[in-house]
Amino acid sequence: MPIRPAGRSARTSRLLIIAVVLVLAAGFGLHRALGGGEEDGGHPGFVDQAGPRTGARIIPAPLSATTGTGPSFELSAQTAVRIGATGTPEQRAEIRRTAEQLAEALRRPTGLPIAVTDAVTDAVKSAEQGAESGGPADGIVLALDLALPEETGPEGYRLTAGGATARITARTPAGLYRGTQTLRQLLPPQIESRTPVAAPGGWQAAAVDITDRPRYAYRGAMLDVARHFFTADEVKGFIDRLALYKVNHLHLHLSDDQGWRIAVPGRPELTSVGATSEVGGTPGGFYTEADYREIVRYAQERYLTVVPELDLPGHSNAILAAYPELDCNDSARPWPYTGIEVGFSLLCAKDERTYALTADVIDEVARLTPGPYLHLGGDEVRKLAPEDYREFVRRVSAQVVAAGKIPVGWNQTASAAGPGGVGLLQYWDGKGARDQDLKDAVGRGAQVIMSPAGRTYLDMKYEASYPLGLSWAGTVDVWSAYSWDPDTLVALPPGAVLGVEAPLWTETLSTPAELDRMLLPRLPAIAELGWSDRSAHDWPRFRQRLAEEGARWDAAGFGYEKRPEVPWPGPGH
Ligand code: ACM
Repeated sequence: MPIRPAGRSARTSRLLIIAVVLVLAAGFGLHRALGGGEEDGGHPGFVDQAGPRTGARIIPAPLSATTGTGPSFELSAQTAVRIGATGTPEQRAEIRRTAEQLAEALRRPTGLPIAVTDAVTDAVKSAEQGAESGGPADGIVLALDLALPEETGPEGYRLTAGGATARITARTPAGLYRGTQTLRQLLPPQIESRTPVAAPGGWQAAAVDITDRPRYAYRGAMLDVARHFFTADEVKGFIDRLALYKVNHLHLHLSDDQGWRIAVPGRPELTSVGATSEVGGTPGGFYTEADYREIVRYAQERYLTVVPELDLPGHSNAILAAYPELDCNDSARPWPYTGIEVGFSLLCAKDERTYALTADVIDEVARLTPGPYLHLGGDEVRKLAPEDYREFVRRVSAQVVAAGKIPVGWNQTASAAGPGGVGLLQYWDGKGARDQDLKDAVGRGAQVIMSPAGRTYLDMKYEASYPLGLSWAGTVDVWSAYSWDPDTLVALPPGAVLGVEAPLWTETLSTPAELDRMLLPRLPAIAELGWSDRSAHDWPRFRQRLAEEGARWDAAGFGYEKRPEVPWPGPGH
């Protein structure tokens, strides 16, 4: 990331004006939340925070939600999580895993037994047929249902709750998992407590009927583990926060000037030398194969795909420290490198030994990564002629393809995008001239993830005086993070935008507590842009829903920043 003077470009100002107009339109009710049927529609800008929680209080806002007139759903000593009878043995094993996760999450705060059962009882059968078809069906039913409309998609679900039963149906186990996150949010915030607590009003959720599915297939967050290293356990904590908001991709920035963070057999210097530094002079670190596999497993169990990034050919000082012979441009800084300048380092693009190294690291990371993507970076390369740069990206992309993965690159790689090259471009720096490159790349078949720095970079300061973070892309308060549309930021053909991602760079962040202060409350804003239908976009309602999340984060032990643009309940707010 470049260190540039703070201040907004003309383009950013233009976006800001457009965003203001959109938000005013929302305020006048032109963008009414779809997150409500009749009862949940209410007054624009008002979310009723009394009583059991309804679909109108969920983040990200569901596609449609109605509140019934029947009794609220309530957890009791009889509540079990029941696995429906449909699905292959593999699917049912996945659903059982989700059921166990949910039961465990509910047991800790409530102290209730919450058994998990896949016994095909009359109760399950009747719940699968709909609670109205008779028979007691206490519990939370998770059941595949291929009769749901195809538009429900791979992550959509239906959730009906009332009385003793909550019933989640989906076409896939992933959809059921997303539905369980909604159920958690429908329950009182104390449900996130790791220890037994009381819930004023009981463990209730309103009687609801929610139908939901994501707007975009790709909803990501990135963690930079290169500038400061975070352990596998710390990354798992990060994943917990993402999973709550239905984020489905974890991008790990595994290499940069300050450190290389993953073991590669046959290339021991990458870690014995390249992993020993980080910003500020602390020791750094790296993931063993077992660590990385554990992160992947933990992410998979929450239906997140890990997208590993090896940033090439710039941002490579740690590689050059390990392999000084690849520094044919005299670009390396003395090791350990603990500063935060960017754009100086460069792998030798004309030396075949460079491509032998990239093949080794790509093959290994591809081998350990079940997801379809491998990110090759490609940003901020300042010392390579454009033709040489394009040729480098083309060759490395071919290695990624040969390793069985789709190459992803920052928007600078647009010139190398297309068949056999970079398939997914991550838009971040919004330079006007690059919009055309992006359009041309889309014309050649690439898709785009939107990560405009002035909106989604969660390491940007909330305001100029904020103690953590940087401000080269301006400041990003919660309103700015929320108030834009990934589909229209750049004029691209329909379907070009695969999704949205919030990167968290860590030049100034060295502890999980600091990550939390930058992540929350802005992550839910980006998550809602990625998941919720555009018609649900509504800042006045969003900030109210967000304010309620504070109690949830308190219960979970997550840190967050009480930003003044959010109407937190309680004294002083
Ligand atoms: C970036 O922020 N350099 C992708």
